[in-house]
Amino acid sequence: MKKNPIFLLLLQIIILSSLIPITKCDDNDDDEDLITKICKETPFESLCLSTLQPISNLPNTDTKVLANFMATTVLKNATDTLNYIEGLIKETPDPQQERALAVCAELYIPVVKYELPQAIEALSRGQFGFAKYNIADVGKQADTCEKGFSGSSAKSPLTDRNKLVRNLSDIVVAIINVLAKG
Ligand SMILES: *[C@@H]1O[C@H](CO)[C@@H](O)[C@H](O)[C@H]1NC(C)=O
Ligand SMILES: *[C@@H]1O[C@H](CO)[C@@H](O)[C@H](O)[C@H]1NC(C)=O
Repeated sequence: MKKNPIFLLLLQIIILSSLIPITKCDDNDDDEDLITKICKETPFESLCLSTLQPISNLPNTDTKVLANFMATTVLKNATDTLNYIEGLIKETPDPQQERALAVCAELYIPVVKYELPQAIEALSRGQFGFAKYNIADVGKQADTCEKGFSGSSAKSPLTDRNKLVRNLSDIVVAIINVLAKG
């Protein structure tokens, strides 16, 4: 059988290329910012990016550090909101509004005192299920607070704050999901 040199060359190329492992453009992945990568996995990418911006130049950041910083931001926001609510309760002349605000204070107090600190603690211990359960509940409490104003004549003075707490909580839950996947 006469061998066609071009055929042999082609055969060599085919064999060689099948031996070369397929290298996608993975080289860049290590450099791709972890924050960018993680925030893409969350429901509010730009809020995630802006919240994590202050720690974007921190060395040795890992997903756990990001989750912790995000959860701490929720705690700060919830604490700030609770203080704001307590200030409004003292000022409002509207009894219906005052009642809705008092309900919100009762919702936010355990969030600030127990749920979030316990979730942050659980995160550091790697107890992701417990942390996630608590943080998801924080988002629900913010929603419940907001709904308390729906029957009242005055508009909710907490809409933006409640939404922010809700959205930040959703981001933490999404980051914990990434952590839990390993
Ligand atoms: C609440 O969250 C926002 C968004 O990340 C952040 O910019 C702000 O500093 C937080 N508020 C407090 C009191 O930490
Ligand atoms: C929170 O998310 C909702 C959409 O679910 C959006 O309409 C709202 O603007 C967001 N608010 C904040 C403060 O991030």
